[in-house]
Order: sequence, then structure tokens, then C-alpha cells
Amino acid sequence: MFYPFALEQYLEELVPQRDPLLLEMEARSLAETIPIITPAVGNFLAWLVQVSSAHNMLEIGTAIGYSTLWLARPAQAWGGHVTTIDLNVDRQQRAVAYFSRAGLTNTITSLAGDARKLLPSLDGAYDLVFIDAAKGEYLEYLDLVTPLMASNGILVVDNVLFRGWVVPGSTFDPKYERMVAKLREFLARLNQNPDFATSVLPLGDGLAISRRRS
Ligand SMILES: C[S@@+](CC[C@H](N)C(=O)[O-])C[C@H]1O[C@@H](n2cnc3c(N)ncnc32)[C@H](O)[C@@H]1O
Repeated sequence: MFYPFALEQYLEELVPQRDPLLLEMEARSLAETIPIITPAVGNFLAWLVQVSSAHNMLEIGTAIGYSTLWLARPAQAWGGHVTTIDLNVDRQQRAVAYFSRAGLTNTITSLAGDARKLLPSLDGAYDLVFIDAAKGEYLEYLDLVTPLMASNGILVVDNVLFRGWVVPGSTFDPKYERMVAKLREFLARLNQNPDFATSVLPLGDGLAISRRRS
């Protein structure tokens, strides 16, 4: 987190009380250091699904399905659907169990595998795509999901500010140099891409929100 922890805590307090299933997933992720979106980001994703009335959604990076639940729950009301991908089979199977407990088996299709291999076999058009997987692969995901996106579809990408380290002049462990450089390149490419209208929000670890131009 690159902004004060107190601010993140305050934003979390403003999020309406989560149900026991989401709270259990938050606790498991914390205990096992599985990185998941913050509750404030989840609340924002659910809001985005509601205002866009997204029907067909795609997520890259399921982990145990926490963000998937935030996407799928509001869309269940109008028969929306989320396809979610993770290459970690253990996490993917745990996510499937959570989707079943949430009563979302028919709303979510969970795929195990490398998104870079699976994406070319998917049929669009997706109204909303959420990318939250390997930061070093974001440029590859972008190229692969762009043709799958509906006109006016929304693209949300997590962790784009990477603890604020993408900001020039930041100090961080040199082992992250390559990843920071990749994220800077990704943000530059996305913001300059004429196919997308993009804003970057400093929520959570940084979210890029783009609309695919028609
Ligand atoms: C940050 S976690 C996802 C967290 C989840 N979106 C949430 O907030 O609840 C990133 C996930 O991406 C997965 N991942 C990494 N590279 C991937 C790839 N090439 N294809 C599919 N999944 C990948 C990892 O296995 C990991 O579970």
C-alpha cells in the first residue's frame, strides 16, 4: 500500500459489512498470504458491474475466488456470467468450492490454466474484463483480451501502481526493477492506446479503468 494504511482502513470501514463467506475468504487469504483485492476495490468492482449492467465478464487471476464473488454477485440478478482463469489448480479448485457455497455455480465458469494459452480459445464479446494476475504479463494479457472485448466494454487492471513504485524517483528493492519497468510500459501503452479511454485510480494497489472505444 503506497498511501497511509490508516486511509485504507478508513476506506474499508466505509464498505458495507461483508457476509461471512467473504470474511472467511479474507481471513484465509491473510493467513496464507494469498494476495487478493482490498474490500474497497471489491466494492468498487461490484459498483462498476451494477452501473454498467455487465452481462459477460472475464477475469484473469481467480486465486480463491474473492474478487470473482464481488463481480458475480450483482450480475446474478440479471443472468450475467463470469469466466475466470487461474493457472494454480489448487487455488482454482478452492475457488470452485467457494462458488458452490455462494450459490454461484451457474453464474461462474472457472478455468484452470495459463491465461496466455486459454484466452485465444475464448469467444467474446466481454462487457467487463478484470486483470489481476502476473504483473509482468500484463502487456501480453492486454493484447490477447483486446479482441475479446465488446465495443464500450470496460477493462479494469489491478496493481498498476505497485505500491507507488511506478512513480519515477521511488526507492524499492532492485529485485523489483524489471516488474516496475514492465508496469510503467504497460501503463504508457494502455494510456496511449487509441482503442481505449483510460483513467488510473489510486485505489487499493492502483487500478487502471479503461473503456474500449466503439
Ligand atoms: C493477485 S492473485 C488474484 C487475486 C484475485 N483476483 C482476488 O483478488 O481475489 C493472482 C493470481 O493470478 C494467477 N496467475 C498468475 N499468472 C497467471 C497466468 N498466466 N494465467 C492465469 N493465472 C495466473 C496466480 O496463480 C494467482 O492466483
